[in-house]
Amino acid sequence: MGIEIAGIKMKNPVMVASGTFGFGEEYSELYDLNRLGAIVTKSVTLLPREGNPPPRIVETPAGMLNSIGLQNDGLKVFLEKHLPYLSKFTVPVIVNVAGETLDEYVDVVKALSKENRVDGIELNISCPNVKKGCMAFGIDPKLTEELVKAAKKASKKPIIVKLSPNVTDITVIAKAAEKAGADALSLINTIMGMAIDIKTKKPKLAMITGGLSGPAIKPIAVRMVWQVAQAVKVPVIGIGGIMTAEDAYEFMLAGASAVQVGTANFVDIESPLKIIEGLKKYI
Ligand code: DHB
Repeated sequence: MGIEIAGIKMKNPVMVASGTFGFGEEYSELYDLNRLGAIVTKSVTLLPREGNPPPRIVETPAGMLNSIGLQNDGLKVFLEKHLPYLSKFTVPVIVNVAGETLDEYVDVVKALSKENRVDGIELNISCPNVKKGCMAFGIDPKLTEELVKAAKKASKKPIIVKLSPNVTDITVIAKAAEKAGADALSLINTIMGMAIDIKTKKPKLAMITGGLSGPAIKPIAVRMVWQVAQAVKVPVIGIGGIMTAEDAYEFMLAGASAVQVGTANFVDIESPLKIIEGLKKYI
C-alpha cells in the first residue's frame, strides 16, 4: 500500500483533503492519525482570516456547498500551535497554502520551507470563495506558471498544485503548473455553485455562491483526472466525492496515483480508514 509522491513517502495512498480536517487536532481524539497516508491541512494564509459570514454551508443533493472564505489563524499561529501539535504524529503533513497576492504565497511558502515537520506544500490556486487571489491564479495559465515558479524558487519542499475545475480546459492549467516545476497535481477543488431557498426567495449562502463538493461532483472529477493524467508526466492526486474504496479505485483507474477524501469526513468520520482497508483488495 506504500507509495511515494513527489518525494513524500506515505503508508498508503489515502490522504484527507484540505478544509475537511482542520489541523488534525479534533480528529486525533477519534482515531490514530498515523493510519492515514497524509494529512492536508486547512489553507494557511499569511495573516489570520475570519472567513465569510454565515450561513456558509448548505447541503445539496449528493453533496454540499460551502463558502468558508479561507478562515484560519494565519501563519504565525500555525507555526506556534498547529504544526507543533501535528509533530506528535509521524503521518506526513502537507500544508495547503492560499493567498491574495503572489508575494503572500511566497512569504508563507518560504516560512514553511524552514520547518522539518512540513513534508510538502499544496498550493491552493482554486478557492472559489474569496474576492482577491486564490482561484484567480488557477484559472489563468500565465498566472499559474508565475506563481508555481515563484513557489518553487522559494522552497525545496515538494510542491503539489491543487487545480480548479472552474475552467474550460483543465489540461492547459495542468501543463502550465508542470512546466513551472510542480512536483505533483491534485484535482479537483470545488465547483462553483449556488442554491436559492424558494420560500424566502433568498440565496441559501450569505455569500450567494459557494464551492460544490461530494458525490455529486465525482464524475466530473474522474473525467478531469483522466484528462490531466494523460496531459502531464507528474503524479496526479484524485479528489472529488470519494466516499468508498470503490470510488478511490475508480480514480486510480483514471490515472490517479493517490487520492484525497474530503466531504466524506463529514458523513462518516472513519471513512478514510474504511477506504484504506477496502483499497487493499483492489491494490
Ligand atoms: C474554501 C476554499 C476552497 O479551496 C474550497 O474549495 C472551498 C471553500 C473556503 O475556505 O471558502
